[in-house]
Amino acid sequence: MGRFSVIVPAAGSGKRFRGKQNKILERIKGQPVFLRALEAFTSRDDVAQTLIVVSADQMDEMKSRYGGHLGFMGVQIVEGGETRPQSVRNALGHVTEDADFVAVHDAVRPCLSPLWVDAVFAEAQKSGAAILAYPLHGTLKKVTECNVIDETLAREGLWEAQTPQVFRKDILVKAYEGDLNDVTDDAQLVEAIGHPVSVVMGDPRNIKITTKADLALAAAVISTLPKPKPKGPDHPFAEAQW
Ligand code: CTP
Ligand code: MG
Repeated sequence: MGRFSVIVPAAGSGKRFRGKQNKILERIKGQPVFLRALEAFTSRDDVAQTLIVVSADQMDEMKSRYGGHLGFMGVQIVEGGETRPQSVRNALGHVTEDADFVAVHDAVRPCLSPLWVDAVFAEAQKSGAAILAYPLHGTLKKVTECNVIDETLAREGLWEAQTPQVFRKDILVKAYEGDLNDVTDDAQLVEAIGHPVSVVMGDPRNIKITTKADLALAAAVISTLPKPKPKGPDHPFAEAQW
């Protein structure tokens, strides 16, 4: 079994959400968005380390409100940077020697089934680099600044990248030595060093909270996420779980 370090970038300012507080702190059915994102990893046997990346501005609030809870979950808090790739680069400097793989998962993707994590972790162990993604289903229009259609784009072969994005540690560390300008996900940097990145079928419910409408969607889908089958009767804790 490979050992995974998980980086959860949470150091953005959430401009598009336009909320009173940062979107990572908003609650879905009572639980903050970022805690839901972290919990997909902290109970896994194959996760050796979980890091949450927080902005300098939010560090005090995060530590005073959630430091105890995060400590109990075994989550380390590290400081982020100006942009998402800078935040991930900072966190990479804190990844444990013990990890063979690094997974990066946005703090603003709270609707994650353990089955999807299983799938992308398994593929990364085979190929060295794998991400969850989902094929585009709509018709794509390129639109001018005056809201007029400029062009209809071909949809064939287009997928929307999601997270987790999972890489052999040495590959991701090398990729992050590159130029971080105009980088919007981790796979892009790995592609740039010429390492193939496998795509694992994700799910449209693995949404990214960008605006307030996404919060309502997340609340609606959270109870529908696929769950792993309960362990069989041979498992020593089977009775306790039933
Ligand atoms: N992120 C980060 N460090 C940054 C910018 C973003 O760790 N300097 C994180 C965000 O906290 C989020 C993830 O990267 O979990 C994806 O970014 P995005 O959805 O764009 O969040 P924000 O940058 O916070 O939102 P916005 O772009 O609307 O300001
Ligand atoms: Mg952003």
